Amino acid sequence: MELLITKLKTEHDLPDEELLRLLTREGEDTELFAAADEVRRAHYGTDVYLRGLIEFTNTCKNDCYYCGIRRSNTRAQRYRLTQEEILSACRTGYDMGFRTFVLQGGEDPRNTDEAVCALVYAIKEHFPDCAVTLSIGEQSRSSYQAYFDAGADRYLLRHETASEDHYRKLHPAEMRLANRKRCLFDLKEIGYQVGAGFMVGSPGQTPHHLLADLRFLQQLSPDMIGIGPFIPHHETPFAAQPAGTLAMTLRLLSVLRLLFPYALLPATTALGTISPVGRELGLKAGANVMMPNLTPARARQHYDLYDNKICMDEEAVKCRTCQEERVRAAGYRIVCDRGDVRR
Ligand code: 5AD
Ligand code: FES
Repeated sequence: MELLITKLKTEHDLPDEELLRLLTREGEDTELFAAADEVRRAHYGTDVYLRGLIEFTNTCKNDCYYCGIRRSNTRAQRYRLTQEEILSACRTGYDMGFRTFVLQGGEDPRNTDEAVCALVYAIKEHFPDCAVTLSIGEQSRSSYQAYFDAGADRYLLRHETASEDHYRKLHPAEMRLANRKRCLFDLKEIGYQVGAGFMVGSPGQTPHHLLADLRFLQQLSPDMIGIGPFIPHHETPFAAQPAGTLAMTLRLLSVLRLLFPYALLPATTALGTISPVGRELGLKAGANVMMPNLTPARARQHYDLYDNKICMDEEAVKCRTCQEERVRAAGYRIVCDRGDVRR
């Protein structure tokens, strides 16, 4: 096994059978984490970048089986932040040192090109030294182009799974994997820094699906890769499904760091939800980004993607301090800049 890890570390790739062996082996991943950490330090030192996350709408026209804000969840209390609320969240974040804002939301029909462009434009006007990341789902190429022209720098769209059969288990018939992939390639061509990713341990996921995810990511070559464990939400068809595990998520973070030495890899909220030290372990396994939540209190508890999500009652300042402490405890240091990818 050590040989496989050394080979992956030096060649940044492995044949299918060897990757599968690494993904399915029994036992501890201590050497894998050490190799990932070494590669991470060679590219990024001990730097950890911050992204201020603003969950600005939880309205969504989609009905993904795993997601707590799916349109069929009639119990979800829907909200949409005003432009003033969003700018005020950015101000709070700016004063705490954030130089990237991630505007994330469901596929809200009120996200017209006009509305999104006005928002991006306003943020760039008030905070010209900050990067604006959008994460508002599948849109047309012309919409993506319009947001980009308004000043958006980056776009996050997890592909969720690269396999047709698995995609069908996670999504209703009206949704299409091909369209999601089309979106990601359009975003790259337009010039965005792009983030893709998937959930670990989502219902029906096999090692072969994970291998396909890794191969798809190699094809796309995204700047950022977001992964986190699947966690059930009680008002979804997957309410009774088991969550993804800490061990498998950490293993995949390390494999991603070795396959994509340059990548921005967040230690996600979902990872912090399945274990109190999940994000710290994530950093030690190769992650180099944290995404403190800047969503104002009135909305935050309604951006309820999965059960027991952490930080639901915390004020933004509290999350910032808490994350600073966690990053330091893990042996890394937060840097206050845009945190662009180092290819
Ligand atoms: N558990 C974990 N992650 C989830 N997401 C959505 N629902 C869940 C869940 N139940 C993730 C998806 C989406 C991102 C915003 O949150 O991967 O892309
Ligand atoms: Fe939000 Fe710790 S990160 S309270």
